[in-house]
Amino acid sequence: MNVGIKGFGAYVPERVVDNSYFEAYLDTSDEWISQMTGIKERRWADKNQDTSHLAYEASVRAIEDAGIKPEDVDMVIVATSTGDHRFPTVANMLQERLGLTKVASMDQLAACTGFMYGIVTARAFILSGDYKNILVVGADKLSKITDLNDRGTAILFGDGAGAAIIGEVSGNRGILSYEVGSDGIGGKYLYQEQETDLIRMNGREVFKFAVRVMGDSSTRVVEKAGLTPDDVDMFIPHQANIRIMESARQRLGLPKEKMSVSVDKYGNTSAASIPLSIGQELENGRIKDDDILVLVGFGGGLTWGSVVIRWGK
Ligand SMILES: CC(C)(COP(=O)(O)OP(=O)(O)OC[C@H]1O[C@@H](n2cnc3c(N)ncnc32)[C@H](O)[C@@H]1OP(=O)(O)O)[C@@H](O)C(=O)NCCC(=O)NCCS
Repeated sequence: MNVGIKGFGAYVPERVVDNSYFEAYLDTSDEWISQMTGIKERRWADKNQDTSHLAYEASVRAIEDAGIKPEDVDMVIVATSTGDHRFPTVANMLQERLGLTKVASMDQLAACTGFMYGIVTARAFILSGDYKNILVVGADKLSKITDLNDRGTAILFGDGAGAAIIGEVSGNRGILSYEVGSDGIGGKYLYQEQETDLIRMNGREVFKFAVRVMGDSSTRVVEKAGLTPDDVDMFIPHQANIRIMESARQRLGLPKEKMSVSVDKYGNTSAASIPLSIGQELENGRIKDDDILVLVGFGGGLTWGSVVIRWGK
């Protein structure tokens, strides 16, 4: 059975926060932020719009795109680090709000790698033969756990959501290879502080880890799929920092136009970042059926995950 993405949807909140917002009260500049990260602006959700609301909007679009009914969804997995509550989970809330049958629903936490973990988990359930349409959502409202007075992190994060229906796809489409991994020794470099609930980060250490793991992991999954970089149509890395993304692209030897860049518009949206980039490329007509996509994420944990997929239902 070939397992892939049968339907897709993405959503960002309306409020645009550009770099001048930070210039107004922090010792920083649009020039520094743009050059060091590639970020020009990000979206922040309103106070009354929590992670479940973002996830809901993306999920409605994914279910519609898959051409299925809510009652056809037989499991919900939400990758998030910023659920509305610890429990009920965002997945529990979606089950009710989307009017799904009383199916299994759970949140899964692998920080910014969450969407990769979600896809890989769903694939295994589909291959078991027990499930047919699993809704996988990557949704985060990082603005609610960002320390706005820390110039090293305040400028980086945004809010958003992306959703996919994972199930059987036709022909030779679908997931061709994957890899997920973690190294807890790096947990101290990126974490949510217990006392404040805010993100703390050693940017330089995370940067070094990310450059290494993005290049290594994406190279391995391309090989594992029996492909070469020449076969890759679109490289969609976690949108954390343009310099990290560029180094992974160069490691694969891909031309600039084959890498998806949405970090300029959305910043780092954690579990939503890869799906938001997929959404952007679909909207721009830059992903076609049967294209080979390489998705690669990294994040707190430290964690990483990569998927090679031949696009299409
Ligand atoms: C955050 C990041 C852009 C900072 O870049 P860097 O080159 O590592 O910068 P450093 O933290 O070493 O700081 C370099 C200088 O810039 C300064 N600086 C940090 N943030 C700044 C800002 N927003 N504006 C201006 N200067 C800033 C530092 O204070 C430091 O100044 P100093 O040399 O006078 O001490 C970079 O580390 C990064 O992107 N890391 C990865 C983060 C990431 O991807 N996190 C998410 C993982 S999912």
